[in-house]
Amino acid sequence: MDTLSLTTPLKSKTFTIKNRFFKAAMSEALGTSQNNPTESLIHLYSRWAKGGAGLLVSGNVMVDRKALGEPGNVAIEDERDLGLLKKWANAGTQHDTHFWVQLNHPGKQTPKSVSKRPVAPSAVPLLGGANAFNKPRALTTNEIGDIITRFGRAASIVKKAGFTGVQIHAAHGYLISQFLSPHHNQRTDEWGGDLNGRMQFLVEVYKEIRKQIGDDFPIGIKLNSADFQRGGFTEEESMKVLKIMDRVGIDLIEISGGNYENPKMLGGDVKKSTKEREAYFLEYAEKARHLVQAPLVVTGGFRSEEAMVAAIESGAVDMIGIGKPFALNPDLPNQIINGSYETVTTKPIKTGFKPLDKQISSMLDLTWYEQQLARMGKGKDPDPDLSPWNTLIHMMTTHGATMIQKRRA
Ligand SMILES: Cc1cc2nc3c(=O)[nH]c(=O)nc-3n(C[C@H](O)[C@H](O)[C@H](O)COP(=O)(O)O)c2cc1C
Repeated sequence: MDTLSLTTPLKSKTFTIKNRFFKAAMSEALGTSQNNPTESLIHLYSRWAKGGAGLLVSGNVMVDRKALGEPGNVAIEDERDLGLLKKWANAGTQHDTHFWVQLNHPGKQTPKSVSKRPVAPSAVPLLGGANAFNKPRALTTNEIGDIITRFGRAASIVKKAGFTGVQIHAAHGYLISQFLSPHHNQRTDEWGGDLNGRMQFLVEVYKEIRKQIGDDFPIGIKLNSADFQRGGFTEEESMKVLKIMDRVGIDLIEISGGNYENPKMLGGDVKKSTKEREAYFLEYAEKARHLVQAPLVVTGGFRSEEAMVAAIESGAVDMIGIGKPFALNPDLPNQIINGSYETVTTKPIKTGFKPLDKQISSMLDLTWYEQQLARMGKGKDPDPDLSPWNTLIHMMTTHGATMIQKRRA
């Protein structure tokens, strides 16, 4: 058998992806105040498609405009934006690129400024988030059914608009991940209890999407390898969920980990040795590999060409999931392919004023990266030297009094 490389196409029964570069979801916050797509998104995804990635995943798109992860999220509830969605899909599918939309519902991870009374599987507040998040109330059975229908409807519009797949966001502590967690899901009805009960919501979301879009349209999932918190979703449970999702027909699995309470996905609280090895969740993938047929992607920490090549050559993963480096270098895939790539380094974004940095570090970091996306949306290049103070001013002008929010991916 030929050695696998970053340029080997990935083929499955529902897709052929031209290479192994996977642009992971990054919330762009470039939608309008009414959560419609914009020309900026169209420019940004044109830029990424030109850069050579095999698969672009959009930032999380919400299935309910009353339940947002942050202002400026795009929401798809009906066909009101079909024209713009078509243009967006067209931009991101240029150069034979796959472009999938990540569908999400934030559950309780919706800031106070966005939702007075968020919903969740159970009325369990976010730990440490008292300043930024309101206590959620438990969803009723009817509301659960409504959200499942919304995922299916959004997926059917995504397909109609010309995107080439969808990804279910089941990671990072959002609603589906809340259902999976025994800490966040304390329901005693059929949507809670043992793992079968807790994963019922995910399975129903998947089935509804499949019903709406048919067998040939790819459905991916982003799943936590674990929540990394006491009483949370464990690695063992995660592997069981993977096996079941693989059996019901999921087409691509992306592995990440953590949530707002412990943001492992962004490299927070990750061991030095793991950081040096770059891919935070590779060991999990090595184990998961034997359990599932669907192609596997690991996201979090990849920076150097060497680490990417080693992960593909090892056979543990099928695609390399990359977030932040794509915000600083949209041409990363083409540069690796043509030999001109210089490793992108990503340091925590800090003002240097410690009390402030401690309070708002993760929000500063994410907003700084979102500013890079906004620059590309305006046709500019990213600016790795962008001052964190500029980001702070941007946060104050756009978020005002609610800026001291612990908002994370
Ligand atoms: C600005 C920003 C926004 C993000 N938004 C999302 C999102 O909408 N959905 C998601 O699954 N992950 C999101 N993430 C997490 C990334 O997909 C990825 O898991 C994380 O950045 C780790 O990968 P990296 O080390 O290559 O950046 C976001 C990350 C950043 C930096």
